Amino acid sequence: MLNLLKSFLFDAIVIVVKMFLLVLEVVALPFMEIKCFLTTKDKTYKSILITGGSRGIGAHLALRYAGPGVTIFLIARNEAKLQEAKGQVEAKGATCHIFAADVTDKERMKEVIEKADEMCNLDLVIANAGILQSYPWFEDYERTIAVNVSGAFNTIVPTTACMLKRKSGQICVISSASGTFNGLASLNLYGGTKTLLNYWCHSERAKLAKKNIGLTCICPSYVKTDLMDNSGFKVSNSLTMTVDQCVDEIFYANARNKAIHVFPSYVPFYVAWNNFVIRLSSISF
Ligand SMILES: NC(=O)c1ccc[n+]([C@@H]2O[C@H](COP(=O)([O-])OP(=O)(O)OC[C@H]3O[C@@H](n4cnc5c(N)ncnc54)[C@H](OP(=O)(O)O)[C@@H]3O)[C@@H](O)[C@H]2O)c1
Repeated sequence: MLNLLKSFLFDAIVIVVKMFLLVLEVVALPFMEIKCFLTTKDKTYKSILITGGSRGIGAHLALRYAGPGVTIFLIARNEAKLQEAKGQVEAKGATCHIFAADVTDKERMKEVIEKADEMCNLDLVIANAGILQSYPWFEDYERTIAVNVSGAFNTIVPTTACMLKRKSGQICVISSASGTFNGLASLNLYGGTKTLLNYWCHSERAKLAKKNIGLTCICPSYVKTDLMDNSGFKVSNSLTMTVDQCVDEIFYANARNKAIHVFPSYVPFYVAWNNFVIRLSSISF
């Protein structure tokens, strides 16, 4: 009985503290956003490396950044698709180099990133390659973890080493809105891999900022690409963004060196509701 009372009291205190912090956040956040908007100058990038650059979000990002005087490096496994993407990027006046590589191959990724950096000091690296396994998603868990987690770090680690040498650069991690949930039954393992990326970004940003390296974590909701089409995951059209809408958001977040960019705007509400339900259900079992 005493233990129950203790635990009840403890829960009640935690809820009151959380409410206080929430009110602080509600007051402070808009001010911080406005200050950031008014004082930050948009960054522009001239040497950009994108993993998963052969199609989907990565290929569209390459086109968004392409223009005269810009050098773009694209990494993916399928060489024919890479050639296609390169042709489109060059048609917009940019220089484009392609590297066929699997992001799970640590040595190859180090070699390729160091080579790209030697050719043209990288000022923006986008760790974008990722997979969503078809239902039930956790069966081939090793591959999902290898591509989404190890693949991202095989990109980030050599990139950071290059950028630290000259104390400048911007790293962008393409995570997912699913990683901002406490748990999401429909995207279990995939969401978990993205949560890890979010956690890392939150932990590392301040440290990298001291070395003048920016770090932006991107958390989009559903985007119409092969990843969604091939997963067997059914999402209503009204909740799905076009690739171009998604790419515009990423472009803005990188220009502003935003810490984390979760979009579209319905996502935080959905996350709050889902986390509340998950918390309640975990108490009742
Ligand atoms: N689409 C969405 O709804 C959505 C939502 C939130 C977050 N995201 C994230 O956005 C990123 C891009 O997704 P997308 O929708 O553009 O997917 P996509 O259309 O399937 O494209 C994935 C890209 O990653 C490459 N890739 C996959 N595995 C790779 C590997 N092992 N090594 C190297 N490259 C690899 C693919 O090229 P190859 O097959 O030629 O290697 C392709 O270029 C992913 O990290 C995904 O998790 C997507």
